[in-house]
Amino acid sequence: MFPSLAGIPSHDNSNVDVSPKLFESLSGAILAPLGLSASRGAPTTASFLESITARRTWYALDKTLPTTQERITGIVQDAMQSVPSSFNAQSNRAVVLFGAEHEKLWDIVTGVLKTRVSEDQWISTSAKTAGFRAAAGTVLFFVDTEVVQNFVENIPSYADQFPIWATQSDAMLQHTVWVALATEGLGGNLQHYNPLIDTKVAEAWDLPTNWRLTSQLVFGGRIGPTPEPKEKKSVQEKVRVVGMAGGA
Ligand SMILES: Cc1cc2nc3c(=O)[nH]c(=O)nc-3n(C[C@H](O)[C@H](O)[C@H](O)COP(=O)(O)O)c2cc1C
Repeated sequence: MFPSLAGIPSHDNSNVDVSPKLFESLSGAILAPLGLSASRGAPTTASFLESITARRTWYALDKTLPTTQERITGIVQDAMQSVPSSFNAQSNRAVVLFGAEHEKLWDIVTGVLKTRVSEDQWISTSAKTAGFRAAAGTVLFFVDTEVVQNFVENIPSYADQFPIWATQSDAMLQHTVWVALATEGLGGNLQHYNPLIDTKVAEAWDLPTNWRLTSQLVFGGRIGPTPEPKEKKSVQEKVRVVGMAGGA
């Protein structure tokens, strides 16, 4: 099913002893407040990569969720708390929009675009935003620029790197949430109507002005056919391996 994983041995964790009591208390203390529950088996590298491989850009979405809104919220919260950031700056921010609030976002985008595109373009543009509105929700991702600016000022030797590192951490969060939602059986696609919509979004949900919008992850029930595989450059072109024992 996932040919690229064929060479990766599945780790057998069946003999790893975690006392049931410890397991219960860990999953209760950490996962339950997030609306998540742990499976008894430890994660494997193969299943982790399988989830990453299975994530796709899915445009045909509806409002039927294969999981609860609480669980989706828990996934975003868990990802937020787990994804790393440079100097542990924690500059990532997110807003999860469901139902009417999600539709409000796509009404905002549609309204903004209407003032900017030609009549000819409007036909395809409005169909596109109607498609996003037909989904179940959107996760808005932000970088808190005040946090980044504090690091710029306090650690001048890395001043020019902090905005880059903040973007990298934000991207890690986006990918983590996208993969996790796909693993739950949701479809999703990543949009970038920022900065056109920034002011209206901040007003609509009363967000701090220092939260800079970076992307919009639309999610919902998958409809239509599975997206066709995308063409990939050969992995040898993109990954070089040096010094492997026995030679590669
Ligand atoms: C940083 C980044 C920005 C993207 N921006 C958009 C976007 O604005 N609109 C869109 O429809 N897809 C966007 N995508 C989706 C990519 O086009 C898509 O991930 C890529 O073609 C690979 O297809 P896949 O997601 O099905 O694996 C973006 C993806 C990434 C990683």
